[in-house]
Amino acid sequence: MVEKVQPSLGRMPAVNFLRPQIQTLKAYESKAIPGCVRLDANENPLTWPKGMREELFASSFALNRYPDGEAQGLRLALSQYTGVPVEGILAGNGSDELIQLVMTTFGGEKGAVIYHPPTFSMYGAAAQVTGTDTIEVPLLLAEDGRDFCLDVDGILEAAGQPRVHMIILCNPNNPTGTLFPREDILRIVKESQKIVIVDEAYGEFAGESVVDQIPNHPNLLVMKTYSKLFAMAALRLGYLLGQGSTIQLLNRARQPFNVNSFTQKAGVVALNYVEDYRAQGRLLIDELDKIVEALKLLPQVTVFATRANFVLFRPENPEQVYEQLIERGFLIRNMGNLPVVGKALRLSTGLPEENTRLISALEEILG
Ligand SMILES: Cc1ncc(COP(=O)(O)O)c(C=O)c1O
Repeated sequence: MVEKVQPSLGRMPAVNFLRPQIQTLKAYESKAIPGCVRLDANENPLTWPKGMREELFASSFALNRYPDGEAQGLRLALSQYTGVPVEGILAGNGSDELIQLVMTTFGGEKGAVIYHPPTFSMYGAAAQVTGTDTIEVPLLLAEDGRDFCLDVDGILEAAGQPRVHMIILCNPNNPTGTLFPREDILRIVKESQKIVIVDEAYGEFAGESVVDQIPNHPNLLVMKTYSKLFAMAALRLGYLLGQGSTIQLLNRARQPFNVNSFTQKAGVVALNYVEDYRAQGRLLIDELDKIVEALKLLPQVTVFATRANFVLFRPENPEQVYEQLIERGFLIRNMGNLPVVGKALRLSTGLPEENTRLISALEEILG
C-alpha cells in the first residue's frame, strides 16, 4: 500500500526534524578572500616536486569504474614508506573523514572521547556529529608562558572512567604548534588502556613520530595526512596506521569507496618524491623561523613555541591586526578566544618572497 504524505508535513520546516546534536552545530567556515596570500590553513605553498605532476597525469584512469575500495596500491606504497604492514593501513578522504570514522566506530552514545583544548576543532565537531560525549582536559601553560604541556595525570584520571573509549592527542598540536614529549604520549598509550589516536598531521615538520610503537600497542592509532608537507590539500587524502586487528574494526564503518582513483594514484606517486618533500619541509621551517624571529622583536606580542609549519601569536589587539593584514593582502587565521591562551592569531609560512612582505606588514602594523 502506498502511504499518503500528510499535506501539513510538506509545510513543516526541515529544522524541526534535526537530530538534537546538530541543533547547536555551526557549519565549518573557511574564508577565501580573492587576491589575498593564504596563510590561514597550514598548507605547503610550494609547487609539487619537479616531474611529479607529469608522472601523475601520464597515468591512465578508468574513470567509468568505481575506485579500488581497498586502496591496495596506495596501501602497499604506504607500507613501504612507513614500515607498517598493509593490513595496518586505512586510507581516508582527508584526515577529517578519519576523525569522524574513529568516532563512528568507537564513540557514539556509549563511548566518550578525551582531547586537550586548545586543539584541532574537528575533534569536537566530529564528536558532536556522531553523538560522542567529550571530556576536555586543557593543556597546561608552561612557566615561561610561551609553551604548553599535556596534563598527563589529568588525562589518565579522566580515562579511568569506563565510558571513555578514546583519547586524541595532536602532535605537534594545532593551533599551538607544541611538540609534546614522546614519553608523555607513550605513558598515556600504556597506562590509559583506551584507544589513543595520535594525530601527526604536522609530524613531518617536527621530525618525530610514534609510528614505530605500533607493534607494541594494539590501542595506538597514528593519523597522517597528505594535506600539509605533501602539498595535496585539494585532493583529500589522509591515512590511519595501527595494528591490523584494530584497523579491521574501522573498515566495518568506512564508506566503501571513500578515496577516489585519482587521489589514490597521487598518493602513490608522491611517495617517489619523499626526498624533495623533505627539502621543501626544511625550507618552510627556515622561512617560518624568520617570521617567528621578526614577531619576537615586536612589542607586546607573545609568540608561542612551535615545531610545526605555523605559529600562534598573541598581539595586544588581535582583531585589528587580523583586519589590517587582510587590507595588506594576507589572510591569516583569527583563532578567536582560545581556552588557556585567550585571543590569538595563527599563521603558516608562505613563499619566501611573500614572507618578506608579510614581515614588513607585521612590522608596520605592530612595530
Ligand atoms: C591537526 C590536524 N589534523 C587533521 C587535519 C585535517 O587534515 P585533512 O586535510 O587530511 O583532512 C588538520 C587540518 O588542518 C589538522 O590541523
